[in-house]
Amino acid sequence: MPLPRIGFVRRFMALYGLVFIFVFAAAGFFISHHFKQSMMAQLQESLVHQSLMIREIIRGELPMQPALLQSKISALAEGLEIRITYIDPNGLVLADSKEKLAHSIQTMDNHASRPEIAAAMRGDTGISTRYSMSLGKQMLYVAVPILEGDNLLGVVRVAMPSSRIQNVLNHAKRPVSVIVLIAVIIILLSGSLFANHWAKRLRTITRGAVRYARQNWSEKILVEGRDELRILGDAMNRMAGALSSRIADLESEKGKISTILSHMSDGVIAINRKKEVVMANPMAEKLFGFSTDAIRGKSLIETTRHPYLEIIVDQAFTQETVVTGEIQLIGNEKKILRASVVATTKEIRDISGILVFHDITELRRLEQIRKEFVANASHELRTPLTSLKGFIETLRDGAEKDPKTRKHFLTMMHEDATRLGHLVEDILTLGEIEQRILPLKKETLDLASEIRESLARFEPQLKAKKLTVNDHLTTTPFFIQGDRDKIRQVFVNLLDNAVKYTPEGGSIFLSAEEKSGKVKVTIRDTGPGIPEDTIPRIFERFFRVDKARSRELGGTGLGLAIAKHIMESHDGSIDCQSVLGKGSSFSVSFPL
Ligand SMILES: Nc1ncnc2c1ncn2[C@@H]1O[C@H](COP(=O)(O)OP(=O)(O)OP(=O)(O)O)[C@@H](O)[C@H]1O
Ligand SMILES: [Mg+2]
Repeated sequence: MPLPRIGFVRRFMALYGLVFIFVFAAAGFFISHHFKQSMMAQLQESLVHQSLMIREIIRGELPMQPALLQSKISALAEGLEIRITYIDPNGLVLADSKEKLAHSIQTMDNHASRPEIAAAMRGDTGISTRYSMSLGKQMLYVAVPILEGDNLLGVVRVAMPSSRIQNVLNHAKRPVSVIVLIAVIIILLSGSLFANHWAKRLRTITRGAVRYARQNWSEKILVEGRDELRILGDAMNRMAGALSSRIADLESEKGKISTILSHMSDGVIAINRKKEVVMANPMAEKLFGFSTDAIRGKSLIETTRHPYLEIIVDQAFTQETVVTGEIQLIGNEKKILRASVVATTKEIRDISGILVFHDITELRRLEQIRKEFVANASHELRTPLTSLKGFIETLRDGAEKDPKTRKHFLTMMHEDATRLGHLVEDILTLGEIEQRILPLKKETLDLASEIRESLARFEPQLKAKKLTVNDHLTTTPFFIQGDRDKIRQVFVNLLDNAVKYTPEGGSIFLSAEEKSGKVKVTIRDTGPGIPEDTIPRIFERFFRVDKARSRELGGTGLGLAIAKHIMESHDGSIDCQSVLGKGSSFSVSFPL
């Protein structure tokens, strides 16, 4: 809001000035009126005294010649600065201090009708104020009778212009005006100082209030003095303190909520009654591939492109319970999400329902793997069992009698039983490693010596297949922290593959290197290699490139899966590089 055009000081000064002018004018008027009245009364009183005195002077000398009377009256009037008139009982003017010539006195009107004369003739003291035509001014007349017993001898009238009072007043006006002017100046000056002081302090408070409105709490309102404005300033400071801490609380609360929402691994979408999106967190944006600004106010269907969500939202709204359902995202990733919809009991800030999306793709994938594992494991178990059963039945049905066949069958049965044993052992190992039932018994191991120890087991096979081992492992030991049995199992599995799949006369290369904080051990062979598209799959359980051939060689497809799990439990990794027809190379990396 802009400041008013006529500010507080001007308004205050205008009002203040007007009040003082009015008060002084009214006081001046009443005082001068009262003063005039009291001066008039004084003047009257003094004229009465003077007329009584003159009457006494004249009475002693009566009767008197008119000329003598005239000169006497003139002499008296001179000293007293008044007009004296002597009137006979008939109202005729016999002498007048202003009319010196005898004939002009004779031409004067009969005065009997003049109010003061009339009163004097009745024996009273007559007083009258009126305009004198002959003198042309306002005059105060006092007339007293001269009595001798009841007999009226004449009337003495004394007159004085009442304008004298005015003159006295006029004389008094100048100093009074100066005093009033000085008083008004002092009052206005002090008033303006006072008003300016208040206005300055009010401006301090106003600026403070504006700062607080902008949420700038750092600068306090500092008002001088100890009056109501100071109290107001202090109260506003306290209010600002309370407000700022409240706002800070709210903001931290809001911050917490938004931090939680934005860091949640679940997608969250809030909708209103009309099923329009009110809010969505970054995860929801990522899952459905929209931007919050673009979808605000749009319908849930438009935003997610999943009509099924509308069905569960409707259910949640009508049943007022949490309704869950599963959707598969359209797009490259084909993610599976579990959507839970909860209807808010009260509509808060336009939010009637909250949808939470939990990514269960991995869960479903693991479930699938487990199912496949069970299917694969039972299949793998069934094969040697069926074969065993076949041999047993054949033997029972008479084959046992032929020693040659019996021996052959028993050898085969031994092979099947060994296979079964391996399989069960591998499954158990895998389960154990996967579930991390047994903790790793970590110790310091030299990788080069571990791999050499593992290789020693394969001496007979190497000899039988005439395989050459090229040991490029350096003499410097590569120490790592690991579980000896497990690490050996990794090497055994890898060497087993190399020996098993490399044809007669082939070679196996062993090497190790230290690179960027890791030790990498590589086992390379000149075997058949692995087709490029199947390389990522060879670490899956039961996966074999050539099922028949592998099985023939006694493989179950669990070796590499076990090796991978062991490496992961050691925070290491395993990978494979291979060129079909040329050979394969398996590397394991350990952190140092
Ligand atoms: N050195 C290798 N050369 C060629 N193929 C290999 C090599 N190592 C592994 N493979 C392929 O990867 C598949 C998976 O190997 P893995 O060790 O997991 O299973 P396996 O050797 O068949 O059985 P197991 O090791 O459980 O006795 C093998 O069946 C084989 O097809
Ligand atoms: Mg193997």
